Amino acid sequence: MFLNFCQTYLTLFAIIASLQVKIVKSLSMGEPIRNVVIAIAMEAEADPFVKHLSLESDDDFFPKTTPFQAFRGQYKNCDVTVVTNGKDDVYGTGVDNVGTVPAALAAFLALNKLDGKADLLINAGTCGGFKRKGAEIGDVYLTTAAANHDRRIPIPDFIPYGIGKIDSANVSNLASEINAKLGICTTANSLDKHDVDDAQMEQNDASVKDMEAAAIAWSCALTDTPHFGIKVVTDIVDGDKPTEQEFFENLGAAAKSLQESLPKVIEYVCGRSHEEL
Ligand code: ADE
Repeated sequence: MFLNFCQTYLTLFAIIASLQVKIVKSLSMGEPIRNVVIAIAMEAEADPFVKHLSLESDDDFFPKTTPFQAFRGQYKNCDVTVVTNGKDDVYGTGVDNVGTVPAALAAFLALNKLDGKADLLINAGTCGGFKRKGAEIGDVYLTTAAANHDRRIPIPDFIPYGIGKIDSANVSNLASEINAKLGICTTANSLDKHDVDDAQMEQNDASVKDMEAAAIAWSCALTDTPHFGIKVVTDIVDGDKPTEQEFFENLGAAAKSLQESLPKVIEYVCGRSHEEL
């Protein structure tokens, strides 16, 4: 009897709690987007966009001990913050800090610094595409969800944690507007892949593959910030060419395509509500 009472009470509590989450979220719905964070791992990909919007470097945005960089300014009544992961000093290589660890940390610190004011986070970058899902070199994708394919933890409760699939904000109108495809992004810390990755990437129903999206989605989930990825295809994951060769062959064209798309994205989202996206 007492157990039944507890179960009923807990179920009611769960329903009320989930309703409250919906009420809080629906309150902010309908309001125009006024504060946008754009997370870009590689400096060279961010540079032209930063210049295009005349954003200024803000050296006090991130803790001084981090390599991350922030560029800030206004566009159409919208506060725009571009964050990049900076260059590696820890391993002494000087290359861009790609991968999930810097991506999650930079996104979290940025959202934390903005203290709940970010209305939207956009993760921009390059990706591999799956021809079995219709992806071609140069395609622009907007993510519908992000998930991990290298977090293999074969213990039942940990399996969904390892995959860590998080839905993106619905941006189907934006996709039509900028002629982008929609699809799931699968994330891991390697540019290449092994057979064991293949199985999980297919299981994730991925159209594209990157090294940051699922990690950034996790930071956004912690802070309840709507988010999506814009990813340009540099290489075909299920094709014949070695990934790194195809990646470098197409990096220039993909970066150009991203530079054409990003201004259109910011133009479209600023001042619109989430429902309109
Ligand atoms: N970025 C561009 N191509 C990629 C790939 N094949 N995997 C991960 N990140 C990428």
